Amino acid sequence: MADRKPIISGNWKMHLNHFEALKLVQELSYLITEDDVDAVDISLHPPFTDIRTVQTVLEADKLPFHLGAQHCHFEEKGAFTGEVAPSMLAKLNVGYVIVGHSERREVFGESDEMINKKVLAILAAGMLPILCCGETLEEREAGEAESKIARQVTAGMASVNAEQAADMVIAYEPIWAIGTGRTASAEDAQAMCAAVRSTVAGLYGDEVAQSVRIQYGGSVKPVNAHELMTQPDIDGALVGGAALEADSFARIAQFRLSE
Ligand code: 13P
Repeated sequence: MADRKPIISGNWKMHLNHFEALKLVQELSYLITEDDVDAVDISLHPPFTDIRTVQTVLEADKLPFHLGAQHCHFEEKGAFTGEVAPSMLAKLNVGYVIVGHSERREVFGESDEMINKKVLAILAAGMLPILCCGETLEEREAGEAESKIARQVTAGMASVNAEQAADMVIAYEPIWAIGTGRTASAEDAQAMCAAVRSTVAGLYGDEVAQSVRIQYGGSVKPVNAHELMTQPDIDGALVGGAALEADSFARIAQFRLSE
């Protein structure tokens, strides 16, 4: 691996109220050490209603986790009932925002064009996007996995400049592996993350491509984290179910300690 610092992100999805969020963050703070966060960035992505609570405990107790969000709108303000602006998140010291998750694309109809507007708005607000891509099982079986993710990454990064691109995180999440207990083999995950990196190289050149951090997501658990995370093009994990429990998320974040 180049000197990219791995990033392990917990996507809590629509789980945990703000009391439960507080408990989980406190439990994590007992399990995760200074050595862990020297080696690995850790970001937590609670639901919107928990963000202020999590921010308060992170800052009051000086906990070394990055605050994240799962979603935002691309507009700064306006008549968009139910939506949240990037600057509102930045004001809460959110550092990373997941964008283009397959659940947002498939359940809420987000298009590549909307996702690109969000990527640009997140960057403009001084936060970093975690841009998600990934193929369905049908697309994989039809041999279309690489072309699908190349298209999603290219569209999602339109008009992003090279300096911004270098700091981005891209998450490869095969849709068939999300929440199913089915994980891509380390070999397949590596091949797809390498394909993401070569797409970035095609857009921005090698230097930017070597700097972008690429996560794998889809049923990452303590038992498979080490093998996945030690692949040369995998720089972290976007974790769903296993991020809801302190012990399993901490063990994933400590992947380097297991064999
Ligand atoms: P699971 O880890 O529950 O499969 O979820 C993956 C995911 O979608 C993270 O964004």
